Amino acid sequence: MPVTIREAGADDWPGIWPIVRDVVTEQRTFPYDPAMSESEARRQWLVPAPARVVVAAEGDRVLGTANMYANRPGPGSHVASGSLMVSRDARGSGVGRALVLDLIAWARRAGFAAIQFNAVVETNVHAIRLYESLGFVTLGVAPGAFRHPVEGRVGLRIMWLEL
Ligand SMILES: CC(C)(COP(=O)(O)OP(=O)(O)OC[C@H]1O[C@@H](n2cnc3c(N)ncnc32)[C@H](O)[C@@H]1OP(=O)(O)O)[C@@H](O)C(=O)NCCC(=O)NCCS
Repeated sequence: MPVTIREAGADDWPGIWPIVRDVVTEQRTFPYDPAMSESEARRQWLVPAPARVVVAAEGDRVLGTANMYANRPGPGSHVASGSLMVSRDARGSGVGRALVLDLIAWARRAGFAAIQFNAVVETNVHAIRLYESLGFVTLGVAPGAFRHPVEGRVGLRIMWLEL
């Protein structure tokens, strides 16, 4: 069955939550509170319009999810940002790439000038490779800004794509 990217509805949360829960409790890729409750995670992930939340689904099964929004309000609102997560057992098969391509297409349609990822963990080599392959560049690294459970303090990259 093909993987499709579609806008998420409230009914998708039960499929999204296990993916978010795994990523948050692993503490390897996102600076989120690992003790975050399900309702707090839902509030943070399901950002309201004009921001957008999508799922990558194979039939009824949610394989991945992304959200996308203006990175800053007011004078910073012409730059988009977003986050994406793929279910552990679906990684490495193109779902992440499809989600980033969808994010880029949305940002172009919505008239954003660029996309900025604010905190890409330096050891997250798959994410970095994926973003670089789509044209993102690293503007800088906040050294030691992320406490990785195995690697200790590692950098957080700011990554940027001009649209
Ligand atoms: C980062 C993440 C979103 C990538 O999603 P994915 O579905 O695994 O990625 P894809 O299968 O689309 O692969 C995209 C690229 O990443 C790299 N990659 C992904 N998985 C890989 C693996 N197991 N080994 C080597 N490279 C890999 C490859 O360069 C691949 O490029 P290719 O398409 O030319 O082969 C996913 O690993 C994930 O959800 N990780 C946890 C949360 C996270 O890190 N989110 C991003 C925070 S910045």
